Amino acid sequence: MTSTGETSYDTMFGRMAVDQGLCTDDELRKAIQEYKERRKRDPLMLQDLMVELGYITASQAQRLKTSIKESKVAAQQIPGYKVLGKLGAGAMAVVYKAKQLSLNRTVAIKVLPKRFTENPEYVQRFYKEGQAAGKLNHPNIVQAIDVGEAGGYHYFVMEYVEGKTIADDLANGQVFGEKEAIEMIIQVCHALEHAHAHGLVHRDVKPKNIMINTQGVVKLADMGLARETTDIEAAQSEEGKAYGTPYYISPEQIRGKIDIDGRADIYGLGATFYHMVTGKVPFTGDDSAAIMRKHLKEKLVPPDHINTSLSAGVSEVIEIMMAKHREDRYNNVEELLLDLEALRAGHPPLQAHKRFDVSVLEQLENGDTVEAVQPEDTEEVITRYRLYLLILGAVSTVSVMIIVLMLVL
Ligand SMILES: Nc1ncnc2c1ncn2[C@@H]1O[C@H](COP(=O)(O)OP(=O)(O)OP(=O)(O)O)[C@@H](O)[C@H]1O
Ligand SMILES: [Mg+2]
Repeated sequence: MTSTGETSYDTMFGRMAVDQGLCTDDELRKAIQEYKERRKRDPLMLQDLMVELGYITASQAQRLKTSIKESKVAAQQIPGYKVLGKLGAGAMAVVYKAKQLSLNRTVAIKVLPKRFTENPEYVQRFYKEGQAAGKLNHPNIVQAIDVGEAGGYHYFVMEYVEGKTIADDLANGQVFGEKEAIEMIIQVCHALEHAHAHGLVHRDVKPKNIMINTQGVVKLADMGLARETTDIEAAQSEEGKAYGTPYYISPEQIRGKIDIDGRADIYGLGATFYHMVTGKVPFTGDDSAAIMRKHLKEKLVPPDHINTSLSAGVSEVIEIMMAKHREDRYNNVEELLLDLEALRAGHPPLQAHKRFDVSVLEQLENGDTVEAVQPEDTEEVITRYRLYLLILGAVSTVSVMIIVLMLVL
């Protein structure tokens, strides 16, 4: 789905059905294929076909249809704006293109679903974070313009970005070249550096929230859009179904930690970087629970094992960004930027090397086995270390024996 044009109702319905975990990506693809064929013969709606194919139930289709319709009515009631069309939809909201009448400019309006309104704690945070985001001003952040309520729906007005998201490119099968990816990730880092300095953590850095405008400028979207109380709640609906697949969520957010800091954004950006340069998400699974389990426990396949043309340096940087324990990641975006700028200049990532060396030594001192998150050659380092101790031991024994022999003789 691109945001250069408007999105049709059918496209939006299909996308939302997947994002809300009602059907799979594969089912949607099959439904669209059949829809294109059948549409040549008779007019039909994608939603009806998806029910007919058994991918969603009639009541799920009805609920989704009602929520899309109601959110549009709500958007049309926002004073001072004129809705021009739909831009897209995600797991939880619909985004409209609109005209801000006072300034005669195009903006994007995100209308949140009703269930947010029912939670006063969420509403309070929505305004608080919206106000904090309104204070940010950065070329790599989608500017927050306004927050409010109309027709019982809360909305978020933001800068309209003419362009596409990184997710659109990835969905088209694009694998980014290392240089291009580094340039883009650096721009997101500048956005995060600015937000973190103002005390705002994004918490949802992922390809869908990174836009590229027609001039090639990268813009981080949804900054300051308050998440639900815990991210684990946000990731699952009442039925335990996924609200958006958690391909990029940090382990500490999965664990429901409340003191989430900038390092969670570094993890999400690392997972995005991984996807961009390998064409694959870091962890896959049949459902969101399986994917989340892997974020917590499974060893990451180093990116340069998937795309062998990648440099060892970029692979190392991504692995540090995606360390399971946030203490093992870059401490902050500034530190990460040092390595990304080094890579851009063709130099090795020194911060990553430092982190890697320290964590290996610490683990050896503790007598731990080296954790799965470390790069492949860790085993080699340990073997070499053990061999070194063995040789040292042997040399000392022989020396002692020689001294004893010399004394005796
Ligand atoms: N400021 C904007 N300008 C132009 N288009 C936008 C803007 N913000 C969002 N969009 C479009 O609307 C779509 C839906 O955005 P939304 O934030 O609701 O969902 P998402 O980020 O794609 O997914 P999720 O709900 O899982 O976070 C985006 O994919 C993008 O195409
Ligand atoms: Mg978004």
